[in-house]
Amino acid sequence: EKIILAYSGGLDTSVILKWLVNKGFDVIAYVANVGQNEDFVAIEKKALATGASNVYVEDLREELVTDYIFPALQANTIYEGTYMLGTSLARPIIAKRQIEIARKEGTVYVAHGATGKGNDQVRFEFGYYMHMPEVKIISPWKDPEWLSQFEGRSDMIAYAKQYGIPIKASTKKPYSEDENLIHISHEAGILEDPSLRADDDVYSLTLSPKEAKDEETLLTFTFENGIPVSVKNENDQTVVTDPLQLILYLNKMGHDNAIGRVDMVENRFIGIKSRGVYETPGCEILWKAHHNLEGITMDKEAMHLRDSLMPKYAELIYNGYWGAPEFEMLRAAFTVGQKHVTGTSKVALYKGNIIFAGVESPFSLYDEELGSMDKAGGYQPVDCKGFININAIRLIASSMRG
Ligand code: ARG
Ligand code: SIN
Repeated sequence: EKIILAYSGGLDTSVILKWLVNKGFDVIAYVANVGQNEDFVAIEKKALATGASNVYVEDLREELVTDYIFPALQANTIYEGTYMLGTSLARPIIAKRQIEIARKEGTVYVAHGATGKGNDQVRFEFGYYMHMPEVKIISPWKDPEWLSQFEGRSDMIAYAKQYGIPIKASTKKPYSEDENLIHISHEAGILEDPSLRADDDVYSLTLSPKEAKDEETLLTFTFENGIPVSVKNENDQTVVTDPLQLILYLNKMGHDNAIGRVDMVENRFIGIKSRGVYETPGCEILWKAHHNLEGITMDKEAMHLRDSLMPKYAELIYNGYWGAPEFEMLRAAFTVGQKHVTGTSKVALYKGNIIFAGVESPFSLYDEELGSMDKAGGYQPVDCKGFININAIRLIASSMRG
């Protein structure tokens, strides 16, 4: 039987690859390029050397930006007030492509290396079921046969040595990392104790504010319907319009200006609490610039309704429900709500800060005359007498009851 394995080139998925071969599967390795800093040629070679009959290296970056990052941006989506969902947003596209490859190869078998304690297993497997109802999933970390053979890392290292699978130096990092265009995550291992601060050398996508340059970087964003169409660096006049290049450029700006570090304890879908250290340099800038423009372009009630639904959207994405019926409902509503989020938003970056530097829109609802304290405008203050009296009716009734 052919099986499509989501392969990263790391120790776990390399051992899984060999284990599947030893079980009699014809293993096709699938490597998703979602923007992680990797040598894909070396990964492909390693997969073949480990026993894969074929390797697919798929560049999913462009689609990740336009079809996953941008929809999340439109709701300023953030999980538990802090986590920008970097891993959660990339899993559904990885799963979708994996199923496309399975169909092309004429198999219903897929495998992944996520553990049985985390969120990623759920995201992968929900993704598989949503795209292929008849799918058959091999998930070694939930497989009794595997679990009886591999209790942990040392068993895998022994297995790797037995079969001549090279163990990279990077696998010696005493915690787990997941990188893509949106972020890098660092968790588990020595980071598990939340009473301890993460060492500075954990961070790889951002400078510390102490190292960042002593000069502001001024960026002008142009948005159309809540989607960024260009960013201009006012310091050196660089202009970027291509969606993928825009994210890559913002990651560089975020890196240089020490933006996007987060350290938190989050709630996993299955109920376990988990400490995560994240770096989200570019998207944090993008989210802020977008939100600033919404301030002048979004209707008050439309914005408040969206903001009340956003935590649900974040939870659905976090829990692996990208593409589920309730997710599509919210996504459609949020797209409609972005109709007039068009215009420019300037932000200044400085030592970890993203500073508001002005917003403009042809669809602005902001009325300087109305907002001003000095001018009457078309507004009749006397109307507020009735407004307050009517709205106070129930407050007075409550107060009289005692
Ligand atoms: N805790 C984050 C999340 O659930 C990051 C997960 C990182 N995954 C990994 N395989 N290292 O989205
Ligand atoms: C894993 O368990 O494979 C990584 C962490 C997670 O999925 O939450």
